[in-house]
Amino acid sequence: MIRIRTLDNLSVPRGARVFYRVDYNVPLEGTRITDTTRIDETIPTIRRLRDAGAALVLASHLGRPKGERKEKYSLKPVREQLAATLGADVQWADDCLAADTSPLRAGDLLLLENLRFYAGEEKNDGAFAAGLRKLADFYVNDAFGACHRAHASIDALPRLFPRENTAGGLLLGRELDFLQKVTNASERPFVALLGGAKIAGKIEPLEALVNLADTVLIGGGMANTFLAARGVAMGGSLVDKDSIDVATRIGEKVVLPVDLVVADDLDAPQKIYTVDADAGLAPEQKAFDIGPRTIAAYDAELKKARMVFWNGPMGVFEKEAFAKGRWRWRARWPRPTRSRSWAAASRSRR
Ligand code: 3PG
Ligand code: MG
Repeated sequence: MIRIRTLDNLSVPRGARVFYRVDYNVPLEGTRITDTTRIDETIPTIRRLRDAGAALVLASHLGRPKGERKEKYSLKPVREQLAATLGADVQWADDCLAADTSPLRAGDLLLLENLRFYAGEEKNDGAFAAGLRKLADFYVNDAFGACHRAHASIDALPRLFPRENTAGGLLLGRELDFLQKVTNASERPFVALLGGAKIAGKIEPLEALVNLADTVLIGGGMANTFLAARGVAMGGSLVDKDSIDVATRIGEKVVLPVDLVVADDLDAPQKIYTVDADAGLAPEQKAFDIGPRTIAAYDAELKKARMVFWNGPMGVFEKEAFAKGRWRWRARWPRPTRSRSWAAASRSRR
C-alpha cells in the first residue's frame, strides 16, 4: 500500500505561500498548446488551495533545455492557458531564483519560468533547491509524470520543508490510487495498452506489467522498437535502439500491431499508406499510427477487459491523419474514469 500525505493532512494558514510542483510539460506547436490535459488536471488542486487562502507559486519543467534558457521551451504559453482556464491573473517570474514572492496574497498565482533553464534542477542540486525553498512555506506535488526523476524540485526541495508542510496534490493521490489497483490486478481480464515514443525509463514498469496483465497491447513509437527487435524493417521510423535488448526479452509476452499507417514525412506527408507489419517498411517510410486491422484487434481485447491500464497514444495523435488509433479508443469511453495524466504524459514524440 502506497501512503502519502495528502491535502487533507495539510493545514495552510491564510496567505501562506505554497510551492506547487506541476508537470506542465505540454505538447506545443510553436507557442500553441495542442493538448491541455496536464493543465486541466491540476485545476482541482489549484481551486482547493486557493479556496483555503493559499498563494500559489507554480513550478514546472518543459522539454529538455539542458540547463539553458531557450525561448522555445518557455512556459509563457502555459501562463496564458492557465489564466484563461481559471479566469484569473497569473503572475510571472522570468527568473525562478530572483522571484519575489513576499507580496503574494491569499488566492494569488505566480508561475515560474521553466525550472530546467537551470542546470541545478536536473542535477538535484542542493543550492538550487535552497533557492527555491525561499519562495514558499509549503510544498505540494502534483507532477506525477515527473515524479520518477530525482530532480531538485521533486527530490531535494521537499526535504527542505518540515514534513508537515508537504503533501501530494489531488492529481498525485488519484494516480497513486489507480496504480494501486493496477499492482493489485484487482479486476480481470486486465489489459494494458501501452504507447508513446520511449521504452527507456519505462523498463521496470513494462517488465512488471507483462507479468501482471492478462494482455499487453503495444502501439505508438514503442511498437516500432518491439517490431525492430523481431527483425521487421522499420524504415525511417523512430526506434529506441538502446531498448532493443529489453524489447527482445519481453517481446514474446506482448501483442504488436499487425498493420501500420506510414508516411514519408510527419508534417508534410506526400502520401499516407497502410502497410502490413510483416512486410516491413521501405527505407523512406515512417510509422505514425496503428492500422485498421490493429485497431479492430485491440478494440476486441479492450471490450473484454474489466480493467485497462493505458499509457501513451497509439500514434502521433497531434496530427489528425495519425490520430485514428488514439481517438477510436477514446470515443468508446467518452468519460474515462481511468488514469488520464499518464496517458497524456507519454506523448508520441518529443
Ligand atoms: C514527461 O513528459 O514524460 C514528463 O514531463 C517527464 O519529462 P522528461 O522525460 O523530460 O523528464
Ligand atoms: Mg514521461
